Amino acid sequence: MEYRLGLIYGDGIGPEIVREAKKILDKVCEKYHHTFHYEELLLGGASIDVCGVPLTEETIERAKAADAVLMGSIGGDAATSPWYKLEPSKRPEAGLLGIRKALNLFANLRPAYLYQELRAACPLRSDIIGDGFDMMIMRELTGGLYFGERKTVEENGIRRAIDTLTYDENEIRRIARRGFDIARKRRKKVTSVDKANVLDSSRLWRSVVEDVAAEYPDVTLEHMLVDNCAMQLVMNPGQFDVILTENMFGDILSDEASMVTGSIGMLSSASLNETKFGLYEPSHGSAPDIAGQDKANPIATILSAAMMLRYSLDLDEEAKAVEDAVKKVLSEGYRTGDIMSEGCTLVGTRQMGDLICSRI
Ligand code: NAD
Ligand code: IPM
Ligand code: MN
Repeated sequence: MEYRLGLIYGDGIGPEIVREAKKILDKVCEKYHHTFHYEELLLGGASIDVCGVPLTEETIERAKAADAVLMGSIGGDAATSPWYKLEPSKRPEAGLLGIRKALNLFANLRPAYLYQELRAACPLRSDIIGDGFDMMIMRELTGGLYFGERKTVEENGIRRAIDTLTYDENEIRRIARRGFDIARKRRKKVTSVDKANVLDSSRLWRSVVEDVAAEYPDVTLEHMLVDNCAMQLVMNPGQFDVILTENMFGDILSDEASMVTGSIGMLSSASLNETKFGLYEPSHGSAPDIAGQDKANPIATILSAAMMLRYSLDLDEEAKAVEDAVKKVLSEGYRTGDIMSEGCTLVGTRQMGDLICSRI
């Protein structure tokens, strides 16, 4: 089959990790006789450097025309990069939020799974890890604090900054349904995470999620307050199947969940709308501290490419081949620095990509 894929190399480690993921996709093409037509799209800092803005209409239109887009991370070091001298709406992150909104990518799936091979890289005690864990964080991605009105005003010489957290019930309902649909194909449990003891938006969230749960009698729903959830993730991660939550809570909890899988360099993600289209990116950032040093772990991006094969292209067998290759290389003891442990072989970004490629 033939597919049109957008590639956003991004900033910092972005180009290094996307290059490895593309290697894997090329191998999949060769082995399974597909043709991928790649188109390079600009976003974030790279787009600022070329076009003066972090997101252009051209990138939006070309992304819309593609079957899916694979992306590295965007952004730079706020203390040193000239991008952060620009006003906030012109910085790299504004491009990322802009493309999520423009493509209506409201459902962000972040699977946090402990490879048995990475038990030694997990910072939790062995008795807490138990048999391991396998959760799907469903993060609402186009609402909440990220997209509410924000401004900074000055009153009587005192600066005041305002960020607005709003959700309407339709926004909550569609992500809740997506969460329950996914739970149905997994272990049939949804933990809806909110701050309903304080926030009106969370009380609405809870009430709408309960209405949706009535449509899924085979799925168990539990509610959890977000502060407790942050604690439960390190106390008993095995209890979670699908974590369903709003934008900001999902951002924070997914970084925490990634670390219990061994490293943020392992956590993939898919951002989906109502169609087959998706934007696939690692959950981590552009890691300016290690950019250009062949140190970045490309696995989160490679696993994001596997999610793209599965969700947007319906290539399940190919996706599984990529996931199995990752597992194989880990079982053979190869590790990038972030997941390194005693007795393993340290490899760089490129070598990790080559190894995974050769096991497909
Ligand atoms: P970060 O995720 O880039 O880095 C946090 C730490 O994790 C760093 O020590 C980094 O070296 C390490 N790390 C991250 N990815 C790694 C990988 N693949 N392999 C090995 N180590 C890895 O977070 P940050 O430093 O807070 O943010 C840096 C920039 O990235 C900021 O500009 C931020 O806005 C941006 N960012 C972008 C995205 C995205 O594009 N989706 C996500 C998060 C942050
Ligand atoms: C992520 C990132 C982004 C977010 C930033 C870069 C805007 O942290 O994808 O998790 O907060 O959504
Ligand atoms: Mn984040």
